[in-house]
Amino acid sequence: MTARSDYSRAGTPAAAPVPPLDRLLYLPGVTATVEPYYFDSPLFDDYERDVERRTGETEWDFAGLALAIGDGARVLEVGCGMGRALVHLAATTKAASLVGIDTSEPALRRARARADAAGVDRVEFVVGDFLAYNPGITFDAVLLADCTLNGFTEEDAVVALLAQVRSLLSPEGRVAVSIFDDGAPLTMAHLDGRVVVDSFTDRDDVNHLIIWSMRFDSTTALLHRTAAVPKAGATPGEPVPCVVSDMNDRIWTPSTLSPLFAAAGLSVVGKEPAILDSGAADGAPMTTLLLAVA
Ligand SMILES: C[S@@+](CC[C@H](N)C(=O)[O-])C[C@H]1O[C@@H](n2cnc3c(N)ncnc32)[C@H](O)[C@@H]1O
Repeated sequence: MTARSDYSRAGTPAAAPVPPLDRLLYLPGVTATVEPYYFDSPLFDDYERDVERRTGETEWDFAGLALAIGDGARVLEVGCGMGRALVHLAATTKAASLVGIDTSEPALRRARARADAAGVDRVEFVVGDFLAYNPGITFDAVLLADCTLNGFTEEDAVVALLAQVRSLLSPEGRVAVSIFDDGAPLTMAHLDGRVVVDSFTDRDDVNHLIIWSMRFDSTTALLHRTAAVPKAGATPGEPVPCVVSDMNDRIWTPSTLSPLFAAAGLSVVGKEPAILDSGAADGAPMTTLLLAVA
């Protein structure tokens, strides 16, 4: 079976952009280039860096993730991205070793640079699809930080991912899953139909506008977002080039995941609540669940 997250579908065609961005993209005088993978696009990467510079990085799940890590633990983070959590945990816990796996090579380049800058040496970053990962060892802690599960929008994809997590977990090991808490989808209804325009400066100090268009169904908890950056400095008389990325997430919560944990042979043994402190869902109730083999 295939169990790809929306973030790992590099190379596949984008879904239909969210209105009203679909109209903008097909206007005469605009040429759109679709980037299938948001985090690998240099422009979107620059946008994320600029937001991080302006608002700082979120740390809402650090306390919950640390609860899964005992002294001397072998730690694996699935979808470690730019190493936000793993480098922090290497510096603040007594883990023996930490491995992060991600499909995005650009994200891992930044993660390695972050580990070097922090002077931590027990961290290793591996590029690849977690679903095909076969390291030949088990781990005492497996982390799914900062809503990584939300990129897996279908139930069977989540169960396949969790089954792979369980197969790599030592018998007494712990899994930490950072997600939105129950009730959060109802507080996010205002995102539906919302268009947000932001500005950012890229690595060459060129200013850009980014336009976000969102659809959110609070019944299914499916969030569909399109981001578009009209490229600055277009040549007069030529079409305005526009870079587009299109993403789907499902806002999983403890109650919607409960049957999927059971199907994968995992059960909840602890919970660390938090409040989201940035982004479009600022103020939403969050939680990090601790799971063990059932
Ligand atoms: C929401 S980001 C979270 C990043 C990081 N965990 C953090 O806390 O900052 C999800 C990450 O999962 C990665 N990812 C998605 N599917 C994956 C897969 N099948 N195997 C490995 N990584 C994957 C994406 O590339 C992305 O970097």
